[in-house]
Amino acid sequence: MNEKMMNIKKIALEELKDLNKEADVLNCKAKYLGKKSELNELLSSLKDLSVEEKKVMGPLLNQTKRELEEAFSKKIEEINNHIDYDFDETLPVYAKTGSLHPVTLVIKDMTDILKRMGFTVVSGPEMEKEYYNFEALNIPKDHPARDMQDTYYLSNGDLLRTHTSPNQVRAMQKYGAPLKVCAPGRVFRNEDMDANHETTFFQLEGMVIDKGVSISNLIYVMRSLLSETFKKDVRVRLRPGFFPFTEPSFELDCSCLMCDGKGCPTCKGAGWIEFCGCGMIHPNVLRESGIDPEEYTGFAFGFGVTRLAMMKYKIGDIRVLNSGDVRALNEFEVE
Ligand code: PHE
Repeated sequence: MNEKMMNIKKIALEELKDLNKEADVLNCKAKYLGKKSELNELLSSLKDLSVEEKKVMGPLLNQTKRELEEAFSKKIEEINNHIDYDFDETLPVYAKTGSLHPVTLVIKDMTDILKRMGFTVVSGPEMEKEYYNFEALNIPKDHPARDMQDTYYLSNGDLLRTHTSPNQVRAMQKYGAPLKVCAPGRVFRNEDMDANHETTFFQLEGMVIDKGVSISNLIYVMRSLLSETFKKDVRVRLRPGFFPFTEPSFELDCSCLMCDGKGCPTCKGAGWIEFCGCGMIHPNVLRESGIDPEEYTGFAFGFGVTRLAMMKYKIGDIRVLNSGDVRALNEFEVE
């Protein structure tokens, strides 16, 4: 009897395995557990057995019956939960591609151009020591020039760097002269925010130190960098400026990208756009970092990449760039 019961169970489960319609499962269930089923016949014949045999076979038969019932219910549940996807693997995929932030794009473009000119890309910490941000750049404590940049001080006496110029000092002290480095990075200023000002933005610093480096080298590098970045021949001009770490210091203007210098609303009719601060590295700065100003000269420049990205991608409000609004960023999707 035991063998027969095991056999029934085996055949029933085998048959159930291949079914995938609820109605078929119910028919199968009737066949193996219904009134006229073999299992039921076995159950009815229990009464003909001896008391001893009943004690063994009774529970076994009932357990088998329960196991089969469970298997049928499970199968029905499986069928009902199964969603039959109408899947066509030949359909084209409309997956969304990611996009790079416009500032990232500009930094990548410009550092690639500078690398081709022989510059090495370096970086430094955003939380900076006063020494690198100010002192080593010829801005001693209590010097009025510290007010040029509104600084966020940290409780440990350090600060959030107000410009990428501390990288000049770090690079000089690490590598010595001659030197040709650029350093993109985030900077922080305690400014009131409006369409043109944010408390955090990006700058790109560059410096070249060698024997006989002059202002004409600075002009040539800036002009090449800007012409390649904007893929058009731009002109540059220098106006006198002031930075404690350069002497002489300049403000560099670039011919307006919109009107090529003819005058338009973007350049407010001037034909020129104020582009960056630059100059010949101050002898005090070279000396502080162990470079002899009698032997070496150098130039440095630092400009706002965020403003440049706004110009290149015609973004009217700086706050869009920090908003994390994907609708704005989607505009810069990589092809
Ligand atoms: N660090 C200056 C600023 O943030 C820019 C600058 C860099 C000027 C290098 C001269 C030389 O305004």
